[in-house]
Amino acid sequence: MKAVVYKGPYEVAVEEVDDPKIQDPTDVIVRITSTAICGSDLHMYEGRTDAEPGITFGHENMGIVEEVGSGVTTVKKSDRVVMPFNVACGFCDNCRAGKTGFCLTVNEPGTAGGAYGYVGMGPYPGGQAEMLRVPFADYNCVQLPKGEEHEQDFAMLADIFPTGYHATELAGVQVGETVAVYGAGPVGLMAAYSAQLKGASRVFVVDNVEHRLDLVKDLGAEPINFDNGDAAQQIHDAVQAYGVDRGIDAVGYQATEPSGEEQPAVVLNQLVDTVRHTGGLGIVGLYVPSDPGAPDEHSAKGELLFRIGRFFEKGQSMATGQADVKRYAHKLRDMIIAGRAKPGFVVSQELPLEDAPGAYEKFDNREPGYSKVLLQPGR
Ligand SMILES: NC(=O)c1ccc[n+]([C@@H]2O[C@H](COP(=O)([O-])OP(=O)(O)OC[C@H]3O[C@@H](n4cnc5c(N)ncnc54)[C@H](O)[C@@H]3O)[C@@H](O)[C@H]2O)c1
Ligand SMILES: [Zn+2]
Ligand SMILES: [Zn+2]
Repeated sequence: MKAVVYKGPYEVAVEEVDDPKIQDPTDVIVRITSTAICGSDLHMYEGRTDAEPGITFGHENMGIVEEVGSGVTTVKKSDRVVMPFNVACGFCDNCRAGKTGFCLTVNEPGTAGGAYGYVGMGPYPGGQAEMLRVPFADYNCVQLPKGEEHEQDFAMLADIFPTGYHATELAGVQVGETVAVYGAGPVGLMAAYSAQLKGASRVFVVDNVEHRLDLVKDLGAEPINFDNGDAAQQIHDAVQAYGVDRGIDAVGYQATEPSGEEQPAVVLNQLVDTVRHTGGLGIVGLYVPSDPGAPDEHSAKGELLFRIGRFFEKGQSMATGQADVKRYAHKLRDMIIAGRAKPGFVVSQELPLEDAPGAYEKFDNREPGYSKVLLQPGR
């Protein structure tokens, strides 16, 4: 089959790879209908992780079940399903607690959490391909209504809609509160959207890419351009108080200063300034323990200059990590079916798998029209 294979920094290719096979009785094989490119893929694409050439990308996958292992009970051939990006077992301590991003079964001993097509997340090839093997399929498939309706909305259930929602949970967003989201990429937009669904009174989104800030406006949230002055101060001025109730990081360690220079802790520190005393910080932007392209030797080891003193003084709390997608995917799916949520508004392109190399380049350059790309094999 064809798949998107990482060749080295700034290079992916669509190549022939082995078809996936049922390896365990609890597996299914899914024929992919839509698979999205994610900002998380860009960290690997840019050579800013330990990912080795040869890895197949793709953790945001949905499709039609093609083959079913003998031990699978609820998933049937020809079911339409979306797969949370976390590969999880469903029965370990963390899965039972709903922390499916930290499954203790699916990765090496001493680590937690698995994902398709991601460095350090276990031996699971990605789904930017014609087919995907799904382990523990009864747990890792989320059933969808048959047909082709809501394809874009449902594709967002694999990662960014639940991840945006998770960010609001980590930050502790409650009805009526004010929220600031750093990053107007797809994840930031989904976090802002989720805050609105939860009844936030005002939602600010910070970035410096104008066409992304236009999407913030379309959403009915308030865009803040950090090139126009300190973002925290702009938000304080807007709310006429020393901070918003909740802050969300949807940028991660490749955050930039207005000059364009990378400063890995800048968003974390901005959040401390932006959020009020005793407010909550939800961090879903990615931070890595090892960054081969880091601007200095400490950040190369994931050691950042975080202003813990000010953070402590303000009595804030912070929660971090990979999103536990499975925890929210069924409920968010039901909101889509009921017409109460339309996360597919972020999708800007549907392209055949063959177009992956160009799409990676344009998404990486944050070109207009490349806010969220769906690859559709067989298109
Ligand atoms: N925790 C999870 O489970 C999870 C899931 C998906 C993605 N992520 C991570 O979330 C992050 C965002 O993903 P995405 O797909 O939206 O990526 P993206 O690269 O498309 O978006 C990041 C945005 O941040 C903006 N930005 C850069 N520096 C900034 C700053 N100082 N202040 C404000 N904005 C700034 C960029 O201009 C860009 O628009 C990535 O780090 C990704 O790896 C985490
Ligand atoms: Zn993703
Ligand atoms: Zn588990």
